Amino acid sequence: MRASPSLIGLGAVVTSAVAQKVVPMGFSRGNPTHTSLRKRAGTYSQELNNNLTGGGYYADVALGTPPQPVTLILDTGSSDVWVLDSNANLCQSRSLQFLYGTCLATYEPTDSSTYEIVDRDAFEISYLDGSGAEGDYIKDTFHIANTSIEALQVGLAENSTINSGLLGIGFNTNVAAAEPYPNIVDLFVEQDLIDTQAYSLYLDDLRAETGTILFGGIDTRKFIGQLKSVDILIDERSRTYSSFTVSLDSLNVGSSSDDLLTQEIPVILDSGTTLTYLPPRVARQIYAEYEAVDDTADTGLVYANCELLSEEDKTLNFHFGGNDGPVIKVPIDELVLDNVKGYIGLGLELPDLPFNDVCSFGIQPLSGIYLLGDTFLRSAYVVYDLTHKKIALAQANLNATGTNVMEITAASGIPLVSGVAAQETHTSGGREDDVENSGSSDDDESAATRALPTLNWEVATVSLVATLFSLTGAGLFAL
Ligand SMILES: *[C@@H]1O[C@H](CO)[C@@H](O)[C@H](O)[C@H]1NC(C)=O
Ligand SMILES: *[C@@H]1O[C@H](CO)[C@@H](O)[C@H](O)[C@H]1NC(C)=O
Ligand SMILES: *[C@@H]1O[C@H](CO)[C@@H](O)[C@H](O)[C@H]1NC(C)=O
Ligand SMILES: *[C@@H]1O[C@H](CO)[C@@H](O)[C@H](O)[C@H]1NC(C)=O
Repeated sequence: MRASPSLIGLGAVVTSAVAQKVVPMGFSRGNPTHTSLRKRAGTYSQELNNNLTGGGYYADVALGTPPQPVTLILDTGSSDVWVLDSNANLCQSRSLQFLYGTCLATYEPTDSSTYEIVDRDAFEISYLDGSGAEGDYIKDTFHIANTSIEALQVGLAENSTINSGLLGIGFNTNVAAAEPYPNIVDLFVEQDLIDTQAYSLYLDDLRAETGTILFGGIDTRKFIGQLKSVDILIDERSRTYSSFTVSLDSLNVGSSSDDLLTQEIPVILDSGTTLTYLPPRVARQIYAEYEAVDDTADTGLVYANCELLSEEDKTLNFHFGGNDGPVIKVPIDELVLDNVKGYIGLGLELPDLPFNDVCSFGIQPLSGIYLLGDTFLRSAYVVYDLTHKKIALAQANLNATGTNVMEITAASGIPLVSGVAAQETHTSGGREDDVENSGSSDDDESAATRALPTLNWEVATVSLVATLFSLTGAGLFAL
């Protein structure tokens, strides 16, 4: 059931973007469109705007000749790049904009000298939260990370329930087209920009304004301790690698060794999803640990006491890859979100709760598919190697200041090196020094030394509420 329908209409719909489609078998790779002399592959960094209002990470990129700027949501859970046509229904209709938000930048194909049509009406994508877009497949020059990709196949949305396009960077087996085509990650390699299909994602702190995606490399200043890799799991039904699914082996709170999982579960690392979704039985145990109240069936939210924000030792620890595998500790201030006051201002009616200082909780229950979204990903440095079917993880060094980029090569895969020794702290004078603490030790000094400024969630709330409500209401359980 949905609560306060008046809230639903106010903001943007954010994708919980694991595209729903049947993956065709027997994919054969298209002919490389680019056969020029081999350039020297390098690494390419693209800044991502942490847009709390939009509930996602947005990349300012451009399409066409001359380049037309567009703003796209970065999504590891889908595989198509698509943009809004300047004539898209949403961008022309005030009543649709009231529901889904005004269009961010659009693209006009007739203004581009490098535009080609690929397949009319063939683009049709829908996301787990019920949102979607449809239109033509086209090709044009795509400008990203201070480089250009020629003749990238892109969806051109004529109809959309999302107010920006998406930058899907998953496996090409998961594109929305009837036949897989070389997608952006393929072309990065085919056009000799990077050596292998791999990139690193650093979303950074909830309160940081930007994150970074680094194509073709890792940045050892942005993580703590050793980078450790795990296998990407194959989709059993299609026998293809189609999503960034890994095995979550155990889960525990703070220094307690009680495992909240009775068995390992497959989880999808999905930057296009705002929250984290775990099996109801597991979510219930987490709520018991944090004294959180699950009201998803009614108001669409899980509530937690904001006073938890001062209990720094209550990290939620995610273990992957067996005994010596990577462990990501998600601090309480990345899980407890101080956004409910804003929702109340917008008309949300709270249920009866055993606490007065009400926050929301960044993990929700879901059956059948489990997603580690931004509330998990911000605490991790995640390297996706599509060529070798590996994902490497390390604890993120939040608000990192320096950079030290290493290339990922086809021959060696992800370099499993060490990053910084401990979470860097930042003083107001801009000086930086390291907290004396090993990355693999059991306590997390970083959380203890962190200031906890109050976010201005007022703006952020509107679309987040819409998202949560649309997630709970719109066929999410249909998979
Ligand atoms: C953030 O997202 C919202 C909703 O999509 C949008 O209205 C706003 O312009 C975005 N802000 C930035 C800085 O991109
Ligand atoms: C697409 O948008 C047009 C208006 O621009 C509308 O007439 C049409 O019904 C829409 N198609 C779908 C499938 O929603
Ligand atoms: C962008 O690319 C140009 C040409 O390759 C290079 O000179 C410049 O330093 C790059 N800028 C950044 C910010 O990487
Ligand atoms: C990171 O910086 C933001 C301000 O941009 C601050 O609110 C936050 O506490 C910082 N986090 C850490 C771990 O230092």
